[in-house]
Amino acid sequence: MSDLSSLICDRIRDVPDYPQPGVMFKDITPLLADPAVFTAVVDELAGAYDVDKIVGIEARGFILAAPVAYRAGAGFVPIRKKGKLPSETLEESYDLEYGSATIEVHRDAFTEGDRVLIVDDVLATGGTAEATVELVRRAGAEVVGVAVLMELAFLKGRERLAGVDLRSLVIV
Ligand code: PRP
Repeated sequence: MSDLSSLICDRIRDVPDYPQPGVMFKDITPLLADPAVFTAVVDELAGAYDVDKIVGIEARGFILAAPVAYRAGAGFVPIRKKGKLPSETLEESYDLEYGSATIEVHRDAFTEGDRVLIVDDVLATGGTAEATVELVRRAGAEVVGVAVLMELAFLKGRERLAGVDLRSLVIV
């Protein structure tokens, strides 16, 4: 395991039975509160790609994606849960580890051919990332990759992203 990966693991807290019994929640708030680790994570993701836009997924994805966009000199595009974006949108529905959801992006969020990196905190079942890849492509942009802080390998989310460059700073 790399130095950064072990720093990340040290700062992610397991919370049992949240948000429902049987689920082990990965709480990233200790990592966010540690300036050295938070900065290292943002710098690692921002330095690895040449892109026009960073896409962040509501809500925890925003916390990572916005500073990555700033650091990379790229634009930031939010993917939001249904009903939150004010202008015309494209939408996708998908299943979560617990429940289901619909996400949206503004139709005009990208310039045709924009190179895009999708950033999120956790890849679990992969439903959110798969739906986001679809949305970005439907909106006319090129998905250069998906980058996450943590991948929960046992949920096999990676299998839903066939053909997409997926980078996980930590795989558990
Ligand atoms: C979490 C997480 C990812 C997604 C991963 O978001 O931030 O976006 O689930 O799960 P998946 O790979 O099974 O789709 P959540 O919907 O819990 O919302 P939040 O960020 O607003 O807490």
